[in-house]
Amino acid sequence: METTLSIIPETFRINEPINQKTYLVNGELKEWEGATADVYSTISSTSEYSPTLLGSVPDMGEKEALDALDAAVKAYDQGQGAWPTMKVRDRIECMEKFVRIMETKRDIVVKYLMWEIGKTLPDSEKEFDRTVEYIYDTIEDYKQLDRNSAKFAKNGGVHAHIRRGPLGVVLCLGPYNYPLNETFCLLIPAIIMGNTAVFKPAKQGVLLIAPLIKAFKESFPKGVVNVLFGRGRAIAGPIMKTGKVDVLALIGHSSSANALQNQHPKSNRLRLVLGLEAKNPAIVLPDANMELAINECIAGALSFNGQRCTALKVIYVHKDIVKEFSEKFSKKVDELKFGNPWDKGVTLTPLPETDKPAYIQDLIDDAIAKGAEILNGKGGEHSDNYIWPAVLYPVSKDMKVYEEEQFGPVIPILSFKDIQEPLDDMAESNYGQQVSLFGSDVYALAPLIDNLANLVCRVNLNSSCQRGPDVYPFTGRKDSAVATLSVHDALRSFSIRTFVASKDTELNNEILEKLLETKLSNFISTDYLL
Ligand code: G3H
Repeated sequence: METTLSIIPETFRINEPINQKTYLVNGELKEWEGATADVYSTISSTSEYSPTLLGSVPDMGEKEALDALDAAVKAYDQGQGAWPTMKVRDRIECMEKFVRIMETKRDIVVKYLMWEIGKTLPDSEKEFDRTVEYIYDTIEDYKQLDRNSAKFAKNGGVHAHIRRGPLGVVLCLGPYNYPLNETFCLLIPAIIMGNTAVFKPAKQGVLLIAPLIKAFKESFPKGVVNVLFGRGRAIAGPIMKTGKVDVLALIGHSSSANALQNQHPKSNRLRLVLGLEAKNPAIVLPDANMELAINECIAGALSFNGQRCTALKVIYVHKDIVKEFSEKFSKKVDELKFGNPWDKGVTLTPLPETDKPAYIQDLIDDAIAKGAEILNGKGGEHSDNYIWPAVLYPVSKDMKVYEEEQFGPVIPILSFKDIQEPLDDMAESNYGQQVSLFGSDVYALAPLIDNLANLVCRVNLNSSCQRGPDVYPFTGRKDSAVATLSVHDALRSFSIRTFVASKDTELNNEILEKLLETKLSNFISTDYLL
């Protein structure tokens, strides 16, 4: 595959590497003197292809990991810390300060999103803006949650003041494909609810966090947010083994989540908030609007080169239309534009993982050996940092590309005669996040919707799968998720219902009245937060 080097716009050039020397522990930006790991982009800055050195980050180990954990444990201080007992209003003020500083870092974060993970300029901007919006929406939702709790209930002669309280210390690990958005969709609700956190950015998409570290330091009390760099195995494992983590918040692969949760010695203490892998199918019925289905399946399978947990990873097409569908689909795939993230109109961009093209090639080889064909002319062509999406058909269940979550540019197509075939496959699958259903006959759609809603957690009608809008519940069945995330649900996932109960006696009622009058307790409060 031929690639020509596009001119890199002045504002996006890497003039100086970012050598991240500090990390945040216990409110202090500590200097790192130890080993560092270079961060490269698979995007070339020169006409002769060579990866671009973007900078370096500390390669930390167990000692620093445990120091950071201690800081988070101390800041929580068995629930007595300043942060978990703080007035809601004051915690919100800290968060507002943080998001205001964050907004000033848009340009640099967007630039590094493009270089580090190859996300297009519009999508990188969207990731930043969507994250900022998520923080503001979280603040608003938290205010509403607080307003709803600013009252007493009385049942069976017992007054109750019920709120949601924090859980403790959160270990927060994000993915490389949404290194800002998905990580912050865990971290922000976790801390606003009064928990304290140790946070390690993903291996790729790490330098873009650097400009925000000072903002964490300046906005939150010491020890509330601790930021570490290094490999998950070296850092997260030792932290889990201590048994001091109350919540494992992770977006990534179920194998990493399983390995980490198994190291925790007290499994009932550990709450899990996990967004894991998926193999979302598209089901195209014979009466589907062909053009609409093709466009949505292209976007669903290939936005960010298919490196999304919500990507369409297998397409089922009814046998009566599979020929027409796959021909038109393949033609459209080859019309897509490949280029660097800042190039106008690009859809396909360099893959950040150097070993991904070889992995995708392996899936293609396996499928071909078992009887599939590549339908598109460019399918499987290699360049320095890419492999062109191959449309594979007919795919069968013994192929790796059917079984594994490809998380990259390759599209398996299967045909079906009876709708029960894809339904049985979905029921058998280890995953259960979302489905895209294309069709128009309500008599066919109705029973399908009723069944699909019990197999996955979002049925997308005539549209590709996606997480957003972020106010909607994002979750999955089986190996696809534990707990539900959305602006609202995340606040629930990172907290627990806890309340003060008092029998309706003269003594207790007098105490309650005094508590409200003096405003001495931050928990017992009926103040209305504006
Ligand atoms: O990687 C999984 C993301 O949550 C997908 O989010 O559907 O907005 O791309 P998205």
